[in-house]
Amino acid sequence: MTDSPAGVPSIVVPIRDATDILRARGSARELAARLRLGSADQTRLATSVSEVSELTRNVLQYAGEGHCTIIDASDESRLCIRVVVEDHGPGIPNVDLALRDGYSTSGGLGAGLPGVRRLMDEFELSSRPGHTRLMIAMTRPRVSSA
Ligand SMILES: Nc1ncnc2c1ncn2[C@@H]1O[C@H](COP(=O)(O)OP(=O)(O)OP(=O)(O)O)[C@@H](O)[C@H]1O
Ligand SMILES: [Mg+2]
Repeated sequence: MTDSPAGVPSIVVPIRDATDILRARGSARELAARLRLGSADQTRLATSVSEVSELTRNVLQYAGEGHCTIIDASDESRLCIRVVVEDHGPGIPNVDLALRDGYSTSGGLGAGLPGVRRLMDEFELSSRPGHTRLMIAMTRPRVSSA
């Protein structure tokens, strides 16, 4: 665990089986609750938490195992939840293709990655054989309590 500037430690969840998907999701939800986002953001927040499930599901399906790190990247002016999902599997040969709606090498819907990208404020994907890394973040201005 490492301390974020806001003082909430990052949580690293190893992803090895389906129960770990729930664990990663639970940790993201817990952090969201601690950040006390406004009620209007709760729906998007719930969605972002389920996006974590999409990404960790991909890890299990295509790489076998990996890990998910949930980070409070908030500062004085904004609340920010950042999630990094990494694996050391075969990688994504064509990232542009993988981000297209309907593209799937497993007969799936091919909706996971494009859906996550649309919903998040930040989305970064890099992949080569042996290392795939996805970073997503949701950011909101801090609302003054005064
Ligand atoms: N961690 C990963 N390692 C290797 N390939 C991946 C990884 N994540 C995604 N991919 C590749 O990108 C494609 C698109 O992923 P995406 O999640 O969008 O769709 P899907 O998993 O095929 O279907 P869905 O998520 O809708 O069930 C996958 O079919 C797979 O080929
Ligand atoms: Mg998927």
